[in-house]
Amino acid sequence: MPDTGVMSDTEPDHILLQARNVEFDWADVPLHWIPGDPFSTHTLNVLHLLLPAGEDWFVETFKEALPLIEDEKLREDVIGFIGQEAVHSHAHSGVLEHLKTQGIDPTPFTRQMEWTFRRILGPRPLTGLRSRNYLVERLAVVAAIEHATAFLGDWVLNADGLDRARTHPTMLDLLRWHGAEEVEHRAVAYDVMRYFDKRDARRLRTQVLVTPVLVWLWVRGVRFLMRSDPSLAAWSEHRRKPHYSDFRAAGRRGTLPTTWGLVKRMSTYFTRSYDPRNEGSTSQAVRYLAESPAARAAAK
Ligand SMILES: [Fe+2]
Ligand SMILES: [Fe+2]
Repeated sequence: MPDTGVMSDTEPDHILLQARNVEFDWADVPLHWIPGDPFSTHTLNVLHLLLPAGEDWFVETFKEALPLIEDEKLREDVIGFIGQEAVHSHAHSGVLEHLKTQGIDPTPFTRQMEWTFRRILGPRPLTGLRSRNYLVERLAVVAAIEHATAFLGDWVLNADGLDRARTHPTMLDLLRWHGAEEVEHRAVAYDVMRYFDKRDARRLRTQVLVTPVLVWLWVRGVRFLMRSDPSLAAWSEHRRKPHYSDFRAAGRRGTLPTTWGLVKRMSTYFTRSYDPRNEGSTSQAVRYLAESPAARAAAK
């Protein structure tokens, strides 16, 4: 996994975050959009299963926090963040519709995700300090997940293995457009959490809980998609079941991050000097966003 985690001198100080309209045409995107590689395809397809419910929840949680933020610059960032995440959620939902036409019904999985975010992490009838504390707990969860989306965004922008594997350009653009906006707004959730709680204890303990849940959901998602893929019906039970060796092989090809790359990027969150601004490059992200085919198509 490329390690581009240090900002260069040419990085902009602060940019105004804004949602960009995008337009994707899924019609000619094949089921295995990384040709001949259902495992990598479905591992990345898990994003479409998790993100719509997750990002809608980010939006709702940030809308709850916004009236409590008095810092004007941070308010602007939060409004930009809300706009971007809402568009992301919508774009990934479009892929889910496309999967249905290809014989994979994602509803059993996505319904569980919606339930989880609404019931377990949704609003609760609390008041006063307890209500505020519950909000800050959820903001810490958003910050923990946004660390992962930032380094994965940085990974996908630099993942030459996906180009070498002839990944379908429409899906590659979705992943890179989303990844670039994740890099662009990577500091917002962290800044919001620190606005309410500057101590490291909550940040660290939350990530300790969030990381294994994310890994577990991802593994479940890959299993679900491999099992539901009608074109793999002739495969044996064993071959259809995802194995760690598949993940390692994809990491070597560069179609997925390597285990070591993931561990290294995740571990920076646990350092005292952690600053999301050091994860990835804003100028690289903005460069990609200026030329993203989906953003250009929508601008026409
Ligand atoms: Fe996003
Ligand atoms: Fe994000």
